[in-house]
Amino acid sequence: MDPRLIELPRISDPRGNLSFIEEDTHIPFKIKRVYWIYDVPGGEKRGGHAFRETKELIVALSGSFDVVLHDGKKEYRFHLNRSYYGVYVPEMIWRMLENFSTNSLALIIASTVYSPKDYIRDFDEFIKLTGT
Ligand code: TYD
Repeated sequence: MDPRLIELPRISDPRGNLSFIEEDTHIPFKIKRVYWIYDVPGGEKRGGHAFRETKELIVALSGSFDVVLHDGKKEYRFHLNRSYYGVYVPEMIWRMLENFSTNSLALIIASTVYSPKDYIRDFDEFIKLTGT
């Protein structure tokens, strides 16, 4: 499956809007972990790796940033600035988060618990493993 933008449910209300994510319904995996990235200084980048097994959904809960992905052949670039969109990142995709706005908050829903062994941190190794 390719990386793609997923539009999440949006319950508009004069008292404030509400969105939600359910495993299997809105994302094609069971949720094992949720983490978030915040207080990112201007100009910093996060990521710069791929996961062997982990699938993720990345949401900009606040502010904006870019999700830059590579599948070994082509690059995908998503600008996230609404909390009702998420980028689905399948396993074996190189990923980078950049261009964080002030006070941005990145929520990441993951299909695995944290394991350093799941990381591929060398781009050349990643390209070899994709067989391209
Ligand atoms: P890392 O995934 O390398 O961050 P990024 O891709 O945004 O640069 O994680 C940074 C550090 O945090 C690393 O030492 C591992 C640790 N970490 C956990 O302990 N648990 C987690 O769920 C995650 C995502 C990271």
